[in-house]
Amino acid sequence: MQKYFKVIVNPKFCYLAPRNGLHTSMGEEVSRSLGRKVRFIHPKFFYDEEGSKLFEEICSLPEYYLTRSEMEILDSIGLELSQFLVQDYALIELGSGSAKKTRLLLEVLTGRQESVEYYPIDISDVLKESSASLQRDYKNLKITGILGQYESGLDFIKSLEQKKLIAFLGSSLGNFDYKSAIKLLKKIHDTMNPKDLFLLGLDLVKDKRILENAYDDFQGVTSRFNLNLLTRINNELGGNFDLKSFEHLAFYNSKHNRIEMHLRSKGEQEIFISKINLSIKLKKSETILTEYSYKYTIPQIEQIANKVGFKIEKIWYDKNKFFSLILFSA
Ligand code: AVI
Repeated sequence: MQKYFKVIVNPKFCYLAPRNGLHTSMGEEVSRSLGRKVRFIHPKFFYDEEGSKLFEEICSLPEYYLTRSEMEILDSIGLELSQFLVQDYALIELGSGSAKKTRLLLEVLTGRQESVEYYPIDISDVLKESSASLQRDYKNLKITGILGQYESGLDFIKSLEQKKLIAFLGSSLGNFDYKSAIKLLKKIHDTMNPKDLFLLGLDLVKDKRILENAYDDFQGVTSRFNLNLLTRINNELGGNFDLKSFEHLAFYNSKHNRIEMHLRSKGEQEIFISKINLSIKLKKSETILTEYSYKYTIPQIEQIANKVGFKIEKIWYDKNKFFSLILFSA
C-alpha cells in the first residue's frame, strides 16, 4: 500500500542581502556611533532575543497605550476596511514582530478571499516563529517570510501581480527621523500600483505625562529594555559596562514632538569594548542616546502625505484619540 506524507511547503523564507551589498556589522556601527561626541547606539540593536521579549512585555504594560489603542482600532474597522478592497489582496507587512495585530488584518482578508498571500518583512528571526504560528491557525494562508531590510523587501514585493495591502503598524515609523521617514514612505509609494493600499499606524502628540509614563513605566520594564543594550554589547562585543552605573532616562522633547530615550552615566567612568578596541570616558550625567520616538499631528500627517504623493483614504482613531491608523492610496 502506498503511503502518503503530508508535505508542508509553507511558510517559505527568503533571505535578502543588504541592498547596497555592504554589510556594516554591529561592531563597526557601535564603534562609530559610541565614539562620537554625541554618543548614540542605534535602536535596531534593542531586539536581540532578550530585547524582543522585553518589548513584548512593554506592549502589554498599562502605561504603554500604543499597542492597546492600535488593537482597539484594528478590532473595529474590519467592515469599513473591506469596503476599500476591490479584489483579492496580498498582505505585506513591514516589521511584523510577534504578528498579533496581523491576525486582525488576516481575519478581514481570509473572510473575503479563498486564499491569502502574506509577505512579512523583518530582519529579526522572530519572523520564523510568528509565521509558523500563523500557518498553524490559518489554513488558506500562503506565507513567504522575507528576512531582510525593509528596502530590499519592498524591491522584492514590487513585482507581485496581486493587489497589495501594505501594513506598517505599531508606530514604528516614529523611530525614524523625518528625512529617513520620508525616504521610506517614498519607497513604499514607489512599490504601489493603482488600487494598492497602505495602512500606517502612528502615535499622536498628546499630554506629556501620558507620553513620558509610556516610556518610563512603573515596573521598570522599559528601563530593562534600554539597559539590555549594554548587556548585549558586553556579551557580543566584549564590553565591560557595569549596568548599575547607568540609569534609564526618557523624556518628551516638545520642540521636536519626540520621546527621547537615553542611558545616563551615574558617575565618571571609563568603558572598554575589547572586540572593537574602543575605550570611552563618560562624565557624570553624560548620556548615550538610544532612541527617538516621534509623535505626529494630523496636519503633519497630511503634509507628509502630500510630500510623498499619497492620497489619504481614511483615518481611524481609538476612543481616546491617542493613536491613528491611516489608509493611503498611491
Ligand atoms: C518599536 N517602537 C515603535 C517602540 C516605540 O514606542 O517607539 C519602541 C519602544 N521603545 C520604548 N518602548 C517602546
